[in-house]
Amino acid sequence: MKKLSIVGIGAGNPDHITVQAIKALGNVDVIFLIGKGSDKNDLAQLRKDICARYITKPYRIVEAQDPERDRTPANYETAVTDWHTQRAAIYERMIREELPEDQHGAFLVWGDPSLYDSTLRIVDQVAAMKTVMFDLDVIPGITSVQALAARHKIALNRIGGPIHITTGRLLTNGMQADDVVVMLDGDCAFKSVKDPGVYIYWGAYVGTADEILVSGKLQERGPEIEKIRSDARARHGWIMDTYLLRKTSES
Ligand SMILES: C[S@@+](CC[C@H](N)C(=O)[O-])C[C@H]1O[C@@H](n2cnc3c(N)ncnc32)[C@H](O)[C@@H]1O
Repeated sequence: MKKLSIVGIGAGNPDHITVQAIKALGNVDVIFLIGKGSDKNDLAQLRKDICARYITKPYRIVEAQDPERDRTPANYETAVTDWHTQRAAIYERMIREELPEDQHGAFLVWGDPSLYDSTLRIVDQVAAMKTVMFDLDVIPGITSVQALAARHKIALNRIGGPIHITTGRLLTNGMQADDVVVMLDGDCAFKSVKDPGVYIYWGAYVGTADEILVSGKLQERGPEIEKIRSDARARHGWIMDTYLLRKTSES
């Protein structure tokens, strides 16, 4: 039987990879890499560096390009479902054609596979096709959210309190809790939050040599973050940033 591991590799710091992940990579014959366009070559390189650092036996890298995604769809959910179906076809072909019987393949997932990542859903779709059989295991990784909290030296929740993790797109509907973690925000959605008592703990490229951290009152630091973000994005060609918004009783 083919074996497939979905391995969380942390969100940019190669030291964040777990011992369990290193052990799994030590047994791998084939690494599957999905390219996301030239802007994100740095991210593909980081995955390759991790392989070079932790895999000591011979292994093959099999690369494929992500299908183009409609960024301005009339219906967001339908567009994402279509995109996942195209990706499932690519993953199915890679596992069926490129992973020989009784060999071990791995998809390296940024951060942890459970958080805003479609790999597990896509691999489920592949399994449901029943055109290729494999044993699956999932190895957790350190998320960008954990890395952000560690770098700001903060706990995400207040005592006994909830945390809401959401996207920039959904934040524009308002903060749904007093502690909100925002990911996938291409438009500085924090600008929509007007409450003067809100603090922001922001980080870009967290865990990497290019890391940028800013924290303080949202009303004071927001414009500065917007500028830093746009400059960094222009410099690198891409950006990944995450932040915690924390409501306080201050005003
Ligand atoms: C597709 S999601 C993947 C999240 C990933 N599975 C995780 O566990 O962190 C990509 C988003 O994660 C966040 N992100 C990932 N890596 C990051 C990093 N090194 N620094 C800051 N944010 C990061 C950003 O919000 C980015 O838009």
